[in-house]
Amino acid sequence: MSTRAADLPVSARGRSLGLPRARAAEAAPELVVVIPTYCERANVEELVRRLRKVLTGLRWEAIFVDDDSPDGTAQVIRGIGRRDARVRCLHRLGRRGLAGACIEGMLASCAPHIAVMDADLQHDETILPRMLQYLREGGAELVVGTRYGGDGSVGEWDAARALISRRATRLSRLVYRQSVSDPMSGFFMLKRGLFEEAMRKLSTSGFKLLLDILATIKRPVAIQEVSYTFRTRERGESKLDSVVVWDFAMLMLDKLLGGYVPMRFVAFSLVGGAGIAVHMGVIALLLRLTALAFPVAQALAAGGTMVFNYSVNNVLTYRDQRRTGLAWLTGLASFMGACSLGALANVMIATLAFDHHVPWQLAALSGVCVGAVWNYAMTSRFTWGKARAAG
Ligand code: GDD
Ligand code: MN
Repeated sequence: MSTRAADLPVSARGRSLGLPRARAAEAAPELVVVIPTYCERANVEELVRRLRKVLTGLRWEAIFVDDDSPDGTAQVIRGIGRRDARVRCLHRLGRRGLAGACIEGMLASCAPHIAVMDADLQHDETILPRMLQYLREGGAELVVGTRYGGDGSVGEWDAARALISRRATRLSRLVYRQSVSDPMSGFFMLKRGLFEEAMRKLSTSGFKLLLDILATIKRPVAIQEVSYTFRTRERGESKLDSVVVWDFAMLMLDKLLGGYVPMRFVAFSLVGGAGIAVHMGVIALLLRLTALAFPVAQALAAGGTMVFNYSVNNVLTYRDQRRTGLAWLTGLASFMGACSLGALANVMIATLAFDHHVPWQLAALSGVCVGAVWNYAMTSRFTWGKARAAG
């Protein structure tokens, strides 16, 4: 049986036709378009159609990074990939998050120029060739698709979202020096070298990847902006909810503190602080409204607080590793187990200190600190950490 060259994977074609090595090298893409997806089944086909049209004549590839979308987006992308080898799907399991998805997509390609764009057709793909031109010949290292500069616009946004976006844009100037009109843009292109300078310091959990890159690279960067109009989403839904405000605050804090304090621990402690308020509220209610004895009320309040802390940490602190369905329940069990031991450690340390004539305030505080660190260390490992993959 004879095999036609077109039936072979691209890498094998050169060899079977006896082409010189240089031809195979030519086939490498000069541009990768990284496209994060979560439930974008209805949009990917059309996006690829548009990319083919606008990138005609260029050597490009598209890497879709899908976080195991329940609507089967990954299957649709693989279907396209079977007909067009330039389209690939990086299918991630057990992780969520826009920034992390983009970073992995960038790492999965060897192309010297990297574009990041949304899958939902809100970004105007027709500016891609111009963006590439600025990188190739214009001396730019980074090109940002902007909704604010030139004749760009945010399209049909409601007033609240437009206001929040503008405020955040202004605030974000605290953490970077370059002049960029749209640091929150999810649409940009950069040279691989620039990405590699920043990649080990980038946060994978948020969604502000461009802002993170700008804040991470301290030297002046040659930046070019290309304006475009942000289109309205026709199919599917936006995934960015009010939690983006939290994500933004955490990224800002991280950068302002110089990246030395682990943000997950800060978040975990903030949630723990809120948990104390919940505990006090619950016990006050129980004592006032029921005839429960104090130790019973205290135990119930402690249990309620653990459920509160677990739920909130699951959507904020560990958003990228969030547990759902049955895994939510088993996670709760391991969280409560770890925190019960933490409470024990807390009491033991505090008692020990107290017995050694440490003032009670300091003794109590040392117990709380040891308990908090214990809880963080244990739950980061056993509730949300890698151990989960094995269990
Ligand atoms: N892999 C992956 N994982 N992709 C995700 C995730 C995730 O957890 N969350 C969202 N996406 C994908 C979406 O499928 C879409 O292709 C893209 O990321 C943007 O998500 P949208 O939900 O459409 O975001 P948006 O339109 O509200 O926000 C856009 O504008 C912001 C500026 O206001 C995005 O471009 C943001 O990056 C941008 O900051
Ligand atoms: Mn969108």
